[in-house]
This record gives sequence, C-alpha cells and structure tokens, in this order.
Amino acid sequence: MAVRRLPNVPVADLASLEDSELLARVKALPLPQHVAIIMDGNGRWATQRGLNRVAGHREGVKAARAVVRAAHEAGIRFLTLYAFSSENWSRPSIEVTTLMTLLERSIDQELPELQANNVRLRVIGRPNGVPSSVRQGIERAVAATAGNTGLTLFMAFNYGGRDELVDAARALARQVQAGELRPEDIDEARVGQALYTRGVPDPDLLIRTSGEMRVSNFLLWQIAYTELVVTPTLWPDFGARDLYLAVAEYQRRDRRFGKV
Ligand code: IPE
Ligand code: IPE
Ligand code: MG
Repeated sequence: MAVRRLPNVPVADLASLEDSELLARVKALPLPQHVAIIMDGNGRWATQRGLNRVAGHREGVKAARAVVRAAHEAGIRFLTLYAFSSENWSRPSIEVTTLMTLLERSIDQELPELQANNVRLRVIGRPNGVPSSVRQGIERAVAATAGNTGLTLFMAFNYGGRDELVDAARALARQVQAGELRPEDIDEARVGQALYTRGVPDPDLLIRTSGEMRVSNFLLWQIAYTELVVTPTLWPDFGARDLYLAVAEYQRRDRRFGKV
C-alpha cells in the first residue's frame, strides 16, 4: 500500500500566517520540484479598473517578477511560466505587439536579478514567427544565464502543447527515416526526450489563475499526473503568498499515480 502523507495544517489556517512564517511552513515539507503556471487574467484585471488590457499585461510582468523571486526563495528547482500561447497570435495586433515588446524589455530588465539569484533562463515554444529582436534578446539572456545552477525558469513563449507534440513526432519520424530508430523502440521515454522539456521532471503542480478550469494547450504530455490548483485571483494580483498557499495545498494532496 502506498504511504500517504498525513494532512498538515489546514490551508485556511496557513492563510493567517505572516509571509515568512508561511514560507517556513512550506519549506518544512517536501516541495514540488517543478511548478508550472498559466498566468491568466491580465485583461480582466485591467478592464475591471477601466484600463486598457495592455495595462494588465504591464502589471502581469510585476507579478511574474515577484513569483520568480518567491520560487527562488522557496528553493523550487523548476518554474515554467506560460507567457504567450500559439493561439494568442489571434488577439488584436496591438495587444500582440505590446506583449512582444513587454517580454523583450522585461527580459533585459530582469537579467541582473536573474544573475544575482543564480537563475537559469530557458525558453520553450517555436521560435518561428517571433520578431527577430525579441528572439535575439531571449537568446542573449538564455546564453548569459546558461551556467547558473539555481532555479531553472522556463518561459513558455509562442508555446502550444500540440505544436510540441507535432514537433516531437516529426523528430522521431526523422530518426526512423534515417534508420537510427525502429518504430517499436518508441516508448514514453523516447517521446519525453523529443519534447522541448527533455531532461526536466514533469510539473508536480500546475497553477492557473483567474478561475478558468482548462489547460489551454499547456504542457499536454507533461501534466498527465500533475496536481492542479486553480485560484480565482487574477494574475496581476498573484504574489509570493499565493504561490506559497498553492504549494501548501499541493503538500496536502495524496498523489496516487493510479495506485491504491
Ligand atoms: C494572460 O492574461 C496573459 C496572456 C494570455 C498573454 P489574459 O490576457 O488572457 O487576460 P484575460 O484572460 O483576458 O483576463
Ligand atoms: C492561456 O491563457 C495562455 C497564457 C496564459 C499565455 P488564455 O487567456 O490564452 O487562454 P484561454 O483563451 O482563456 O483558454
Ligand atoms: Mg486569458
């Protein structure tokens, strides 16, 4: 029989703790190795305040900064942030352009802190279609942080879970065509190796903000047994505390992986 983790303090009680105390409680139990976040609700946050959607994206960048810092402080190994999906191209062009500019600018601005915190930046998604200045900026930051050994931060940018599976299928087909691989040798491990996330453990915890109960084409293969936490909080309002509360919720879950 699987050993079940006994429930610790109710999450409602944790909510009354100071940030530092909450962090200490969360750190006292096994942490998720890999946390993935669907950062949703920037547009609604802005609209509720009578602002332009773009103002919501600007605030969203601040929330992302706070959460990267918080993940680093907690000692989480991998953090994946969904920043722009393969479907987001169908938004009004002014919004798409602003998102690209914001990403380019924030990567530049955040680089010193990423370096100071020993964070390694990586990107998942298709490079095609991303303006070349944005691509070059990302590549520079990825190269500059490649030797860092702390938190690995994956930005999912122009990312689609189905695109990723299509790319993996093509890569495997090419290996078969070249005579390097037999179809019967394709197994879960080979597929995993053909994904953008090769070598990275699957997310233990997936957080989605803004209350939407869907995965929106995010890490479809990798979330097979991921614990889901959906919070009504809109992304610009999400902070370190919310991350730690989601981790505390995760720590109360009983992960069974199909066993009893
Ligand atoms: C998330 O916020 C940011 C991106 C998808 C780039 P949204 O822009 O989706 O905000 P809502 O969902 O419209 O409120
Ligand atoms: C998911 O949010 C994509 C990102 C957070 C980048 P969306 O706002 O695009 O998802 P839907 O359209 O509500 O499913
Ligand atoms: Mg949305």
